Amino acid sequence: MQVRQVPFEDLARLGLIELRHQVLRAPLGLDFTAEELAAEHDQVHFGAFEGERLVGVLVMVPAGTMAKMRQVAVNPDDQGRGIARLMIQASEAWAVQAGFAVIVLHARANVVPMYEKLGYEVFGEPFEEVTIPHCKMRKSLTS
Ligand SMILES: CC(C)(COP(=O)(O)OP(=O)(O)OC[C@H]1O[C@@H](n2cnc3c(N)ncnc32)[C@H](O)[C@@H]1OP(=O)(O)O)[C@@H](O)C(=O)NCCC(=O)NCCS
Repeated sequence: MQVRQVPFEDLARLGLIELRHQVLRAPLGLDFTAEELAAEHDQVHFGAFEGERLVGVLVMVPAGTMAKMRQVAVNPDDQGRGIARLMIQASEAWAVQAGFAVIVLHARANVVPMYEKLGYEVFGEPFEEVTIPHCKMRKSLTS
């Protein structure tokens, strides 16, 4: 298993958009808009690969002193194998290297326990996003 950064130009060819659509949007009856995808040009895209096979995705967005984690998704047949943990660790290493002090994210409420296990804490009030309940979470990279 290897987690690596994928250039924006290669996202579609290597299947990152399709996996995100299949895991995160299609179950909600939603799709990505062309504008949404175009806005991801300056974001940092990670793919988890088993050989050539894409098994997971994660996106990091620089936002001042913070980095925002989004679009964490693992191929349904490969869930429960530690792939999200590996991707999150890789993205944290990238964020430390890039000088960010904190990572923030909007966690689906049912996935909050996973992020807590990985050192993230809930803050603020729950809210709705893409039709489902979410919580704001953060992890300091300096403490
Ligand atoms: C949530 C998701 C990314 C987890 O990916 P994964 O590769 O199966 O997770 P991992 O195997 O790396 O799990 C890491 C740890 O978190 C735990 N965990 C994973 N999903 C969990 C959940 N929903 N609730 C509680 N704990 C969870 C695992 O048991 C594991 O703990 P352990 O190491 O002590 O056994 C994956 O299930 C997925 O793609 N779900 C659909 C999309 C989604 O909800 N994405 C998150 C949006 S915020």
